[in-house]
Amino acid sequence: MIISNINMEKVDVLLGLQWGDEGKGKIVDVLTPLYDAVARFQGGPNAGHTLEFDGQKYVLRSVPSGIFQGNKINIIGNGVVLDPALFMEEVQALEKSGHDLRSRLKISRKAHLILPTHRLLDATQERMKGDSKVGTTGKGIGPTYTDKVARTGLRVGDIEIAKDFEAKYAAVRARHMLLLEAYGCTEEKKAELTDLEEKFRRGIEFLRTFELIDSEFVVNKLLAQDRRVLAEGAQGSMLDIDFGSYPFVTSSNTICSGCCTGLGIAPHRIGTVYGIFKAYCTRVGAGPFPTELQDETGKLLAERGHEFGSVTGRPRRCGWIDLVALRYTIMLSGVTQLIMMKGDVLDTLPEIKACVAYKINGTEVRDFPYSIEGNIEPVYKTLPGWQTPLSEADVEEHFPKAFGEYIAFLEAELGVPIAIVSVGPDRKQTIIR
Ligand code: GDP
Ligand code: IMO
Ligand code: MG
Repeated sequence: MIISNINMEKVDVLLGLQWGDEGKGKIVDVLTPLYDAVARFQGGPNAGHTLEFDGQKYVLRSVPSGIFQGNKINIIGNGVVLDPALFMEEVQALEKSGHDLRSRLKISRKAHLILPTHRLLDATQERMKGDSKVGTTGKGIGPTYTDKVARTGLRVGDIEIAKDFEAKYAAVRARHMLLLEAYGCTEEKKAELTDLEEKFRRGIEFLRTFELIDSEFVVNKLLAQDRRVLAEGAQGSMLDIDFGSYPFVTSSNTICSGCCTGLGIAPHRIGTVYGIFKAYCTRVGAGPFPTELQDETGKLLAERGHEFGSVTGRPRRCGWIDLVALRYTIMLSGVTQLIMMKGDVLDTLPEIKACVAYKINGTEVRDFPYSIEGNIEPVYKTLPGWQTPLSEADVEEHFPKAFGEYIAFLEAELGVPIAIVSVGPDRKQTIIR
């Protein structure tokens, strides 16, 4: 594979441009041989990043997707929130299947810890919201980032000071219990705490066996030595806490700027920004979705694309590609290279639609509006389908003509080249243009 634009002294960033599940895990794995280190910079086990190779399938939650390709350094950065119990479960499953991560995986001391009570608070707050619930992954993400910003969180580095940690944990727990009481947490939910805390304690001991680092120094030293670093985004830009479809978003900055604060690197250290998107669009959880298809085509996309959440198993909502949203998220992160996934899912369709603008109260709008709730009518451009199996194409020259035209149309609309095209879930089903 030849990619000429790998940056020395820079961090290249790979970001989801839609509502998550674009295929980030697969592409990070494909690109890893070109890098010395892979780092996660935000999110937590709400992520589910799927990799397929040699007939095996892996779903990673907190472990970076660079773990399988050679002896590369993998970093869980300070912007991540880490659940020790789920981390232990994930690593032990990988170790069972013969992958030893210990020498390669390093964890930032400044990453925040997801506590058992954060999980309960997530569930209870969702229940309180009733019909306006976000549909979170239930992993305690929102409450953990809330504590981080409120300056009441616990960090991975706190576990190194064992005596102090117990006291700190007890104080946070007591405060959370008051909140849970006030929010009307059910007795049934509270009963889960015993088991969750037992797993948490084992998780903390497990975490102590890993190399805990000041990742901002490690990453900057790698850059100073001309080593190449790839940052792996989680979730998608439309779930960004500032610019996503608020309040139906996650609790971190999923766009490129999140990489600076989530790893401790300066803005001028950002190199190539890979923006990854599906040839259509999906969303899991609640919230507005202008191009959603609640018809047979939507069902076909869900079935052909196996669109079920890799963390929660929930069915993902499916719809046509939304270029208004994509232009917006490309702008927010300064995307320099696009990566298109899952074109093969559209193989059988006679026609394909792409939303080029929104009609709001009779006016056509091309810039992403403040709110996409309510009366938004997508304006579609219809393109011919290729009706040929893409998964058999191994070079660009084998693409059916209509697929080539779809790519050219998207590049013209989005103003950024599509550098990589994925035509199947396997590592090998990837075409570098
Ligand atoms: P991530 O969260 O962005 O890493 O994406 P997920 O792993 O949650 O979801 C992507 C899903 O699509 C996974 O099941 C992948 O195995 C699968 N996948 C990735 N690329 C392709 C592709 O080009 N074609 C098809 N059919 N499936 C793909
Ligand atoms: P990856 O990294 C898709 C969604 C949830 C919910 C909202 C908030 O695999 O692309 P949270 O648990 O973060 O508080 O939930 O965000 N969500 C995702 N959707 N892919 C993800 O991750 C997601 N992580 C969170 O469904 O709507
Ligand atoms: Mg996913």
